Amino acid sequence: MYIIETHKLTKFFGKRNVVYHLDLKVPKGSIYGFLGPNGAGKTTTIKMLTNALRPTYGEIKIFGLDMPRDRIRIMERVGYMPEVPIAYEEMNIFEFLIYIGRLSGLSKEEAREKTKELLAYVGVGKLAFNKIKELSSGQKQRVSFAAALIGEPELLILDEPTANLDPLGRIEFIGKLIELAKKEGKTIFISSHIVSEIERMCNYVGIINQGRLIAQGKISELTRIEENEYDILTSDNERVIDFLSEKSYVRELWEEDNILHARIEPRFLEEFFLQFPHYLASEGIKLKLFKPHTSPLERILMEKFNIEVGTRLENLRFGFCIKMKS
Ligand SMILES: Nc1ncnc2c1ncn2[C@@H]1O[C@H](COP(=O)(O)OP(=O)(O)OP(=O)(O)O)[C@@H](O)[C@H]1O
Ligand SMILES: [Mg+2]
Repeated sequence: MYIIETHKLTKFFGKRNVVYHLDLKVPKGSIYGFLGPNGAGKTTTIKMLTNALRPTYGEIKIFGLDMPRDRIRIMERVGYMPEVPIAYEEMNIFEFLIYIGRLSGLSKEEAREKTKELLAYVGVGKLAFNKIKELSSGQKQRVSFAAALIGEPELLILDEPTANLDPLGRIEFIGKLIELAKKEGKTIFISSHIVSEIERMCNYVGIINQGRLIAQGKISELTRIEENEYDILTSDNERVIDFLSEKSYVRELWEEDNILHARIEPRFLEEFFLQFPHYLASEGIKLKLFKPHTSPLERILMEKFNIEVGTRLENLRFGFCIKMKS
């Protein structure tokens, strides 16, 4: 069963077609990454899903109910974290969360209890009596996450929730989302333009570009690897180059900033994995780094769809090519 399902969801701003014929399918219990570059239409789509914006045409079903007709029944079960969080600048965090808790149908006492719990959970306990307007962007984002969770929603809709978090905050946040999906069975719909983040936490992805959904499905299925490229750093790259250049299964080999990049013929991957460590050990060469050259999802985006998302895709292919086989 799909928790979110849209059919031909479309939004025009004037004559501009910002979202076009989107058929989203978000399975129950999934962490669904809604991935696309700036201006792709992510926020516009999310606003339509949460009734902040009316579609020009198209259908939205959430929990099998119709948006906007059943919007109240739907939004009772949804935690929404908007792209620009929190308008209640004069309230302090404590008052704000209690207010949101009450709006979500909690009693006064329940709202207080839940607020205390969430303040610690999102890491703003010490700031409880600070006004919203006094918070940093990252702190606001944390409070906004607490606000999305307070009504114990079944579905979380999060618009770039990690945008202002520091690196440690991002890692913690990702861990929390995975836990919420796994332990509590929540469905999570999260937009981002950071491929690595989506890859780390999501099991489903929808890729949107210029308002159109260009791919959707299980990440593991979309990224079924056809070719394999690795980054390698050893204590003696020169000798490793000599060794790998001789191997017919090494289709490409180049060096960039002392890192070797090897593209391996997929059929012979097993042979490579058997021979390479054996060679290193027998020659007394230390292996300092070994990892996939780009993540599979990045590669799919670049090679199949010709779109660059996020910042990790820079400077990918300027290495000196040592060997090229057809
Ligand atoms: N109210 C509006 N009126 C006119 N155009 C708009 C409006 N809101 C958004 N747009 C345009 O629609 C396009 C999609 O915007 P949207 O905010 O949905 O992108 P996004 O994928 O969320 O991007 P980002 O990653 O930067 O948040 C953009 O080109 C934007 O300029
Ligand atoms: Mg946006």
